[in-house]
Amino acid sequence: MSDFEENVRKALSSPQNQGEMPDADSVGTVGSPDCGDMLRMWLKFTEKDGKKVIDRATFQSFGCQTAIAVASMATELLKGKTIEQARAMSAEELSGDLGALPPMKIHCGQLVEGALRSALDGGAVETKPAVSTLSDEMKQPAGKVKINFLPPN
Ligand code: FES
Repeated sequence: MSDFEENVRKALSSPQNQGEMPDADSVGTVGSPDCGDMLRMWLKFTEKDGKKVIDRATFQSFGCQTAIAVASMATELLKGKTIEQARAMSAEELSGDLGALPPMKIHCGQLVEGALRSALDGGAVETKPAVSTLSDEMKQPAGKVKINFLPPN
């Protein structure tokens, strides 16, 4: 097992910040054209030293294990970042201690990066979602959820 796989395995044993955030300020949902996986990220902002920073980030994923491990790492790393700092983070940076993503897994990191950017672009949070989970929403494409597909690699 490579170091990366081992790190992903460890991250998956206790994924951080998983689940919907009911009081989120913004949300972003993206789908990968490479594999059809989807990921949603919620952000909550706060004010620190006169600047708007990320207080908390959570995610829900129908992606592979790598996407879940990266999202777990990323949502930890995002705490305290300004919008500009968060926007400047690459998929590689969001993967943190997991290490460099293998070529086959680069799009998994890009899925997390895409969901973050979509949330930073101010995806509105529905106060009363028509459905409760991303999986429900995927089964009901006629719902109000806007899913942004990333450009193909
Ligand atoms: Fe598609 Fe990882 S295989 S997100």
